Amino acid sequence: MKTLIKNISSLVTIASKGKKKLCGIEMNEISEIKEGSVLFDERILWIGKTSEVDNIISVEQPEQVIDLRNKTVIPGFVDSHTHIVFAGNRSNEFARRLRGATYEEIANAGGGIQTTVKATRNASIEELVQNASKIAKNAIAHGATTLEVKSGYGLTIESELKQLKAIKKLAETMPIRIVPTFLGAHDFPPEYKNNRDKYVDIICNEMIPQVAEEKLAVYVDAFVDRGYYTLEQAEKIFSSALNYGLKIRVHADELANVEAATLAAKFNAVSADHLLFVSDTGIEELKKAGTIATLLPGTAYFIRMPYAPARKMIDNGLAIALATDCNPGSCFTENMQIILSLAVINMKMTAEEALSAATLNGAAALELSDICGSIEVGKQADFSILNTNSYTDLFYHFGINHVDEVWIAGRKVHKN
Ligand code: NIG
Ligand code: FE
Repeated sequence: MKTLIKNISSLVTIASKGKKKLCGIEMNEISEIKEGSVLFDERILWIGKTSEVDNIISVEQPEQVIDLRNKTVIPGFVDSHTHIVFAGNRSNEFARRLRGATYEEIANAGGGIQTTVKATRNASIEELVQNASKIAKNAIAHGATTLEVKSGYGLTIESELKQLKAIKKLAETMPIRIVPTFLGAHDFPPEYKNNRDKYVDIICNEMIPQVAEEKLAVYVDAFVDRGYYTLEQAEKIFSSALNYGLKIRVHADELANVEAATLAAKFNAVSADHLLFVSDTGIEELKKAGTIATLLPGTAYFIRMPYAPARKMIDNGLAIALATDCNPGSCFTENMQIILSLAVINMKMTAEEALSAATLNGAAALELSDICGSIEVGKQADFSILNTNSYTDLFYHFGINHVDEVWIAGRKVHKN
């Protein structure tokens, strides 16, 4: 339905003017229109000042006119890194961490990702979809309009495919855009504990071909870190992915610097994620390759690790995206507003940088910036209406949900 929303106190468009992403200090250019209006059907048709709407109404004849006052409109958040399809719960492990155990100690004792693998292997597709739907609904209620979702809690061909099929079903049943990633290289399955390279062969020669054939994922990801996949193992996996037409994203240097960022750059990864311990060389290589640095400050917060050096990356001209990493172990939140709060306070990003990172650059991290990530003519009408007349309140008045309504592709999908 052709709709005009007028009298928007602050319309934050993140207009990229043809750029697919904003790099370095460009991320501050959020293009705010005070007293703005927007006309859309499934896509954005016109954007301007409310003082100009009379002309537009006579020509375009919208079927519905919504008069907003004291509200802010921002592009929908693109949460470009999540693990929301899983079964079970790790609150016991969380409580152990509160008593002093570290994330790595719990993982080394057979818990962590392996706990979720056991539960996910035993779950049906329906259960997985049901659990993930609740999380996706909450994500929308907090302003997300696109989610990337990874497998990685199956670690056998059958259960990885089951997870990917659950992601597909989620995409068909929820009103949110979903991008699937195959993360068979999340951890090593217990069956191959003492023969890790054999499992890498299975990923390369059995899993990736099958995932590509069934078109169940757009990307292949791997956890390249201390105690997990080595650079050599990841090289094999990424080479196989590229052979089968799948592109690369990487869990890089989250627990220690293993120069995973440099590997991501070498494979022209679309995104290198986490980067808590990235080296200066890693930053330089990501810049040269045009790889987006996706930062997940919720994870640093939740597992009490140092935050990624966002300022250094921005000063070096990198494009940063912000995402939740929503998963049952290292960061259990689907609320992008919390992530933005952590980014400005603990990674010293500006409000404007955080907004660009959570919208346009998130879309770029999923190669979707031609269709979403900003409010610009021709893009999908994906946006949130906030209960405030200033976007600064998203950061200033923290810990509450500012979202009033969420619209995806021109349809109202949520009202708080
Ligand atoms: O992104 N780094 C690896 N994977 C997740 C953690 C998953 C889990 O603990 O279940 C992460 O932090
Ligand atoms: Fe992750």
